[in-house]
Amino acid sequence: MNALSTPPIHRVGVVGSGIMGIGIAELCAKAGLDVTVAVSSTASLVEGPKRLARSLDRGVSKGKVTPELRDAAFGRVAFTRELTDLADRQFVVEAVKEHEPLKLELFAALDKIVEDPDAILASNTSSIPIVRLARATTRPHQVVGVHFFNPVPALPLVELIPSVLTDHQTTERAQEFVTSALGKTAVVSPDRAGFLVNALLFPYLLSAIRMVEAGVATAEVIDQGMVLGCSHPMGPLKLADLIGLDTTVSIAEAMYQEFREPLYAPPPMLLRMVEGGLLGRKSGQGFYTYE
Ligand SMILES: NC(=O)c1ccc[n+]([C@@H]2O[C@H](COP(=O)([O-])OP(=O)(O)OC[C@H]3O[C@@H](n4cnc5c(N)ncnc54)[C@H](O)[C@@H]3O)[C@@H](O)[C@H]2O)c1
Repeated sequence: MNALSTPPIHRVGVVGSGIMGIGIAELCAKAGLDVTVAVSSTASLVEGPKRLARSLDRGVSKGKVTPELRDAAFGRVAFTRELTDLADRQFVVEAVKEHEPLKLELFAALDKIVEDPDAILASNTSSIPIVRLARATTRPHQVVGVHFFNPVPALPLVELIPSVLTDHQTTERAQEFVTSALGKTAVVSPDRAGFLVNALLFPYLLSAIRMVEAGVATAEVIDQGMVLGCSHPMGPLKLADLIGLDTTVSIAEAMYQEFREPLYAPPPMLLRMVEGGLLGRKSGQGFYTYE
């Protein structure tokens, strides 16, 4: 098999309807692809389409999406509670919680369900080694990390992470898909916790949280400093809220476990906030309060 001898990817499966799952579904649907999103609860079957509609509407109000494209894209996305509905997909990307046992179980299940022998099984994980997910399947050479950035419709980068077991054709086909079909820029990143971007970003985010914890300055002042002094589009505390503080903890823990360096350790303040249900923008409260 090579990337050119396999048919173009039209049928995409997404597992998870959180921040990233909905973003990836929206991106693929706007690119004209047929998308099925597998969710884990009845509540998500109701909430998922609402979140997708809200995000598409935001695109319309910003003038980035026409009402016609919004309607067409919405119509291309089906939601299901049955993972088996992903059987005919050519490219499946999981975007469930950053929890290794959950992802391992999911990859083992997808391996049994997805029928196309050329299908790519991808993970949007931020920090879990791809090789471990690959080993949960009988086709480790077709498992690859495809790491989108938040918000998916807006940010141009995708990290592609082949594991030591991924074959060249899979990486090439995934790269062709995210660049030509989805219009993103791809960088190939190493299969180490945090890949490239988060390995650099997280020590910075965690340092900012430690500054708040130590009472050095408030979240607002730190964020203002980085926005006005360094031209960052948003400050580190607002960004942590956007990522989700639970996801921030999971990524930090995975990196700490891999490198054993204190700069990756989640600060106690962050852990307590997550234990208290303060998850950032998605829960309405983090370092900031959201409507
Ligand atoms: N948030 C970010 O900025 C960001 C950026 C890049 C990558 N990621 C990665 O993307 C993945 C998802 O993150 P998120 O921010 O969307 O998290 P989220 O908390 O917004 O959503 C996770 C979703 O997974 C669902 N889920 C849990 N178990 C499931 C199952 N068995 N089947 C189907 N759905 C299930 C939950 O219901 C929830 O909707 C994580 O691996 C994360 O590391 C996140």
